[in-house]
Amino acid sequence: MMRRELFGNGALLKTEALGRNAVFLETVDSTNAFAKRMAYEGCPHGQLVVSEHQTAGRGRRGRGWSDEKEQSICMSIVLRPPVAAELAPRYPIAAALGLCDAFASLGVAAKIKWPNDLLYEKKKLSGILLEAGFCGGACFFVAGVGINVNQTSFHGEIKDTATSLCLAAGKVLAREAVLCAALNAMEPVFLLCETEEGFESILARYAPVSCTLKKAVDVMDANGVFRGVAESLDGLGRLMVRTGDGALVTVNAGDVSVRGAKEEQEG
Ligand code: BTN
Repeated sequence: MMRRELFGNGALLKTEALGRNAVFLETVDSTNAFAKRMAYEGCPHGQLVVSEHQTAGRGRRGRGWSDEKEQSICMSIVLRPPVAAELAPRYPIAAALGLCDAFASLGVAAKIKWPNDLLYEKKKLSGILLEAGFCGGACFFVAGVGINVNQTSFHGEIKDTATSLCLAAGKVLAREAVLCAALNAMEPVFLLCETEEGFESILARYAPVSCTLKKAVDVMDANGVFRGVAESLDGLGRLMVRTGDGALVTVNAGDVSVRGAKEEQEG
């Protein structure tokens, strides 16, 4: 069981709001679902929900997320920023950058596959699912984060596409330290999402750790697959892809794979 007292004694957690109210669970369907319920009931900004295990972990694009009890981190954070719901797409980009900073502080140089998968040597370390809701006339976001921390092997369909911080760093990590590093690093980047200049500074830091930007990509969207070069991100964090005929296409969601790097596809 993750030791709540280590997390809560103030030594590791440096945030103002993120994680200052926290619920630690043994098992839950999905921490995102639980956090959403708490948000509708009026929980504060920064509310954290952590579970040792999820029975119905949710991933992006209708996929699932599997964890290994007591080896990984499944957490969700309720955000109530003073922004319009339209700015929601900035938050997964920011969360990915925050996690990338956190992993770097733990000795793991991760890359970000757009929009928000954290990879190490082309294998997935961590995934983020951002969900939004409305309550009391204001929007809220739930940032769900799954981190592979101390697993040493993976099974099923993620067998060859997943890795862990432990495998990347070559040592077992204290999950409390990983959790606090993640919250400490995400809080300032979430604040930067509130202004244009702030988000520009996120994009400037995101580009060098992106393994998608400047690459030839295949994009799978609702209309099929098209090819192009991932040129940049726009002011909402959407991917701008230059196609062969010179058009610049905005990609909102969709699966993007770097051409010739099949192993970088989402797992
Ligand atoms: C993805 O890579 O597709 C996103 C995975 C997000 C998984 C996390 S685990 C904690 C939180 N609760 C969920 O049900 N999903 C997110």
